[in-house]
Amino acid sequence: MKNLILVGFMGSGKSTVGKWVADRLGVSFVDMDALIERRVGKSISEIFTTEGEANFRQLERALAQELAAGKDQVIAAGGGAVLDPENIRDFQQTGVVVALLVTANAARARTKTQRHRPLLEGANRWLELRRLHKERAPLYDAIPLRVDTTDKGIESVVTEVLAIHKSNQQ
Ligand code: S3P
Repeated sequence: MKNLILVGFMGSGKSTVGKWVADRLGVSFVDMDALIERRVGKSISEIFTTEGEANFRQLERALAQELAAGKDQVIAAGGGAVLDPENIRDFQQTGVVVALLVTANAARARTKTQRHRPLLEGANRWLELRRLHKERAPLYDAIPLRVDTTDKGIESVVTEVLAIHKSNQQ
């Protein structure tokens, strides 16, 4: 089976949807952020604080290359993985990349009680989320395979993602 890679803004549902989809397909699920945290032995927030965002992006880039060399995995990328077009290019070479879309309002509602995202922990969380959402939207929109998750329940997003993955196996 080709890898299935979920990309999308923070709060688009990559990790939740990824776990369900991997379960349905009977393959392993890889959450890139969680794997980086395990390997480095620090949380993403700690990595941002002690090593800086640029360093985190390098770890993310190296992991994307490593995972793209494998198969039979559902991968939840971090929200910023699209910032480096090489990540998407590598993932597309061996897998099916699906963008989960979400409006800024829905992303805000879904992330407002969570505190593990360093990019949203500044003084003005909501302004920053909107700024990043505006900046990133064209990158997610440029992915050919997309599912809008905004007003959908998990079941219907999972069903759509599975259908897209199935019809893109060649
Ligand atoms: C980031 C999103 C996060 C994580 C890091 C940076 C981003 O992942 O990789 O905090 O730049 O959008 P999630 O999208 O899983 O929250």
